[in-house]
Amino acid sequence: MKQAVYPGSFDPITNGHIDIVKRASRLFDELYIGVIANPQKKALFSVDERISLIQDVFKNEPNVFVQGFEGLLIDFVCQKKITNIIRGLRAVSDFDYEFQMALTNRKLQPDINTVFFMTDAKYSYLSSSLVKELAYFNADVSDFVPGIVLDHLKQKMADINNA
Ligand code: COA
Repeated sequence: MKQAVYPGSFDPITNGHIDIVKRASRLFDELYIGVIANPQKKALFSVDERISLIQDVFKNEPNVFVQGFEGLLIDFVCQKKITNIIRGLRAVSDFDYEFQMALTNRKLQPDINTVFFMTDAKYSYLSSSLVKELAYFNADVSDFVPGIVLDHLKQKMADINNA
């Protein structure tokens, strides 16, 4: 059974992330999307909200699972007895950070590999922060996120603006 973990903040999940999940889930029998509760990043959506949105997006994909985690990625991956980490590369600018992370994780656990997928070129400039900023100023982000995320983003922004 080939298994992998695709970790990230996913605040919120975008079409760029979905593109990576679709590519990876064709190569692996089971793909676990690991949603980090990262105290260093101030999130718009809670971990539970992010998990629930991702579960909804992949409700028809039987080999895609979603789980939250805290602490070191390598501990989460080892605890699940999985030996592959998936990461997406959008542009050359992602490389340094990803290279450092992959080698650090390898130093911590030599048997665990990081497998990279290139994001579709049309999502190469996309990030969750960009989507949130555009949504905050009422710009149309329907090309960047699935419908369910769009609805929740609109609601979040309305709550913020009415607070
Ligand atoms: N399409 C669209 N956007 C993408 C993308 C893609 N394919 N791939 C990454 N992004 C964006 C994300 O939306 C995010 O944008 P944002 O910063 O505006 O939110 C940004 O790129 C990076 O996000 P992500 O891939 O989620 O990485 P991250 O930096 O938030 O988290 C972890 C990376 C969770 C893997 C890393 O922080 C980690 O492992 N943390 C645990 C602690 C640990 O083990 N530390 C040691 C690591 S060696």
